[in-house]
Amino acid sequence: MKNLLDRMPNVLLLGPGPNGVAPSTYQALSRPTLGHMDPTFISVMDGIKEGLLTLFNTKNHLTVPLSGTGSLGMEAAFVNVVEKGDKVLILQNGVFGTRMVDVASRLGADVTELAFEWGKPLDMDMVAGQLKKDGYKIVAMVYAETSTGVKNQCEEVSKLLKGKDSLFLVDVVTALGGIPVKVDEWGIDICYGGSQKCLSCPPGVAPITFSDRAFEAIANRKSKVPNWYLDMTMLAKYWEGHTRVYHHTAPINMLYGFYQAIYNILEEGVENVHNRHQAALDALTEALGEMGFHMLVEKPYRLPMLSAVTVPEGVNEAALRGALLNDYAIEIGAGLGALAGKIIRIGLMGYNAQIHNVQILAKAMKEILAK
Ligand SMILES: Cc1ncc(COP(=O)(O)O)c(C=O)c1O
Repeated sequence: MKNLLDRMPNVLLLGPGPNGVAPSTYQALSRPTLGHMDPTFISVMDGIKEGLLTLFNTKNHLTVPLSGTGSLGMEAAFVNVVEKGDKVLILQNGVFGTRMVDVASRLGADVTELAFEWGKPLDMDMVAGQLKKDGYKIVAMVYAETSTGVKNQCEEVSKLLKGKDSLFLVDVVTALGGIPVKVDEWGIDICYGGSQKCLSCPPGVAPITFSDRAFEAIANRKSKVPNWYLDMTMLAKYWEGHTRVYHHTAPINMLYGFYQAIYNILEEGVENVHNRHQAALDALTEALGEMGFHMLVEKPYRLPMLSAVTVPEGVNEAALRGALLNDYAIEIGAGLGALAGKIIRIGLMGYNAQIHNVQILAKAMKEILAK
């Protein structure tokens, strides 16, 4: 029988994710599987929680990795705090903002979607005006909008929410590990990420953190959390305390990988990792400019780890992406939604946020465009 894994190509992942994984993390994934209540494994669980406190910049005791991808983080964030009829404001300027609207609506929330042009930041006057109009139980936004490459104004929104009762819910799937995420300083109540972007682990883990205020809101719900698997009151007993209560079988080896990925960031130094992302973006901006490509997003709002790039007249973006993958084993991303066919998306995330990867990509693009 043919083993499909024998011929796995080694693709340089420079798209919107998944992204590069360090050799040490691949090695960690293949360590012996232990029982999920084994004290050695529990010490790894505790190590992950401790590392996440640093990455999220929080003291929240309920800070854990969920067994699933970033979308599960989004589900968990909303399902724990939303009850039918709750007023939820979602600031939307991309695909993942629209996904938030869908998730919250399915839970029966009374959703107000404040939509902004894709590729542009939030209009803060409109946000301030909307917050004056009504009181919301939850105000939600995506910090790093992967579909457009926009860094949204998380800190500014947090200032508008100061002193209000609203819970502040933020998606940092693409941000975490690439730019600072200051959960406590910015008063974020619920914040989730994903393993496969700047954290440089394969997909499958979604770190999440809840403030005491958010946990209190869960404890005071009128109805039970409608999703058994994601009920944080139960998950907390699995992840916290001297005696752990079985909830589900944690994906042991994925968590070894996740532990190693966090370890690698802390070893390099969080700030150094952020600076490496910015240096890679600077190199990319210069290289693309030489080829006549331009960034979609205005400089102050550009994400270092994900660039939305407008394609010059006469260049077929699908053919370019195809040639990069087929002839050079380099993956970049396409535009989504309204931006499909108009942009390409280049990710320089985590382990792959390196200037030499920019040079490899630029050389390949030049050769393809010269044909
Ligand atoms: C900002 C953002 N949120 C949520 C998700 C969903 O994560 P996943 O695809 O891991 O489920 C993504 C994935 O790209 C994302 O970029």
